[in-house]
Amino acid sequence: MSGHKGVFKMKLSELSQLQTTPMAKHNGRGKASSFLSDSFLFGGGAMVALLVVWTLWSFFSPSPDPNASFSTTGSEPKSIIAMEDAENVSPQDCAVNARGFNMHYDPPETTFYDDPKLSYTIEKPVKNWDENRKEWLKYHPSFAGAGANSRVLMITGSQSKPCRNPIGDHLLLRFFKNKVDYCRIHGYDIFYNNVLLQPRMFTFWAKIPAVQAAMVAHPEAEWIWWVDSDAAFTDMDFKLPLDRYTNHNLVIHGWPHLIYEEKSWTSINAGVFLIRNCQWSLDFMEVWASMGPQTPNYDEWGKTLKSTFKDKIFPESDDQSGLVYLLLKEREKWGERIYVESEYYFEGYWVEIVDTLDNITHKYVEIEKEVPRLRRRHAEKVAESYGAQWEEHLRDAGYGKGSWRRPFITHFTGCQPCSGAHNEMYSGQSCYDAMQKALNFADNQVLRRFGFVHPNLLDSSSVEPLPFDFPA
Ligand SMILES: *[C@@H]1O[C@H](CO)[C@@H](O)[C@H](O)[C@H]1NC(C)=O
Repeated sequence: MSGHKGVFKMKLSELSQLQTTPMAKHNGRGKASSFLSDSFLFGGGAMVALLVVWTLWSFFSPSPDPNASFSTTGSEPKSIIAMEDAENVSPQDCAVNARGFNMHYDPPETTFYDDPKLSYTIEKPVKNWDENRKEWLKYHPSFAGAGANSRVLMITGSQSKPCRNPIGDHLLLRFFKNKVDYCRIHGYDIFYNNVLLQPRMFTFWAKIPAVQAAMVAHPEAEWIWWVDSDAAFTDMDFKLPLDRYTNHNLVIHGWPHLIYEEKSWTSINAGVFLIRNCQWSLDFMEVWASMGPQTPNYDEWGKTLKSTFKDKIFPESDDQSGLVYLLLKEREKWGERIYVESEYYFEGYWVEIVDTLDNITHKYVEIEKEVPRLRRRHAEKVAESYGAQWEEHLRDAGYGKGSWRRPFITHFTGCQPCSGAHNEMYSGQSCYDAMQKALNFADNQVLRRFGFVHPNLLDSSSVEPLPFDFPA
């Protein structure tokens, strides 16, 4: 551990940027990103600190697919029947996977994939996407059934080169494992991107081309869920309240009064967002990306954003300020379809969260002591049914700050695990310990179904077998 401490201290000069929000996330994007970071201005520590508080970013995201889990359950009886009744099994039945999707079937009818003009790149706008997607689903009916409207693909990622922080890649692995666990439990797909799809769109800008490409690659997904690489799921049971977003196409975490009254560039966090796989989103991302470093207007946008947001201290145009700008200036055009979520930790600032984890653990154990069905051992595949039962006992827990509910996503804004260039306002050790704690807190929710538990959240290497009927 002392070694880790040293690691986090490295390169004070680079630190900087973290807060610059976007940068933080990106730490990792090779040359471009180091250039960016090095060029960031560094305000006074206090100012930076403030910024950081509001800022939550990270890099990458993942996306899940809620329906998939339901389909899974539904399809199981089918395959058993097929086995018992082998004579009636058609090759197509065999091709249906556990979620009920037929992954061996791509009919000859032409779709958008056959159009030589269709491009996955951010420079060429995708057109007629809603019609094209609908048509693809028509030809692939196994993906069009129940649950299609709540199917989610998670995307996350990191730079293409090794992290500068010697333990950075290890930390990213743990953050990724955490997302994989969440997605497996809920039957979601996940895509990890580690290359700049538009070479000039570095750091925080990199997610836009990745999200666009993912929409085209996954027409079966209704939602794409970007989750920065430095964000961890700390409630493995909680599911996105997708019903709430039926009339919206983009969901971000933020505070409307900070957007519209304070006009703060940290009024939202662009490191975690949910975006509907539709033409509106492609159009929105086209406008959003037009403020990016791949355009001739990048410098101009930097000036515009800096003058719009008094709390923005660095001169470069960044994705988060750009998003707030669009909310402020083009509210009629986009605002109606953008849901600013402030009720629960769609993502939350780690400093606000980590110290509450011990009390939360205690609360949950107390409830389990009282309720035998919550502590009943079960297969991981049926985890969602236990999550639903838990909800009955969490009605008084609240959500977000001050709640004793497990925080949904804890975002290590400013910790820069990949570069190690953490914000000066906290020590590297505090970032490191907080990450261990949150990741092991999450891991205990997973390991439990494998029969083990980390007794000490700061000791990632040790587990103990969980006694039967714990914690009776
Ligand atoms: C944890 O709970 C104790 C007892 O209720 C309380 O005094 C303490 O402030 C709580 N700690 C945090 C970090 O919330």
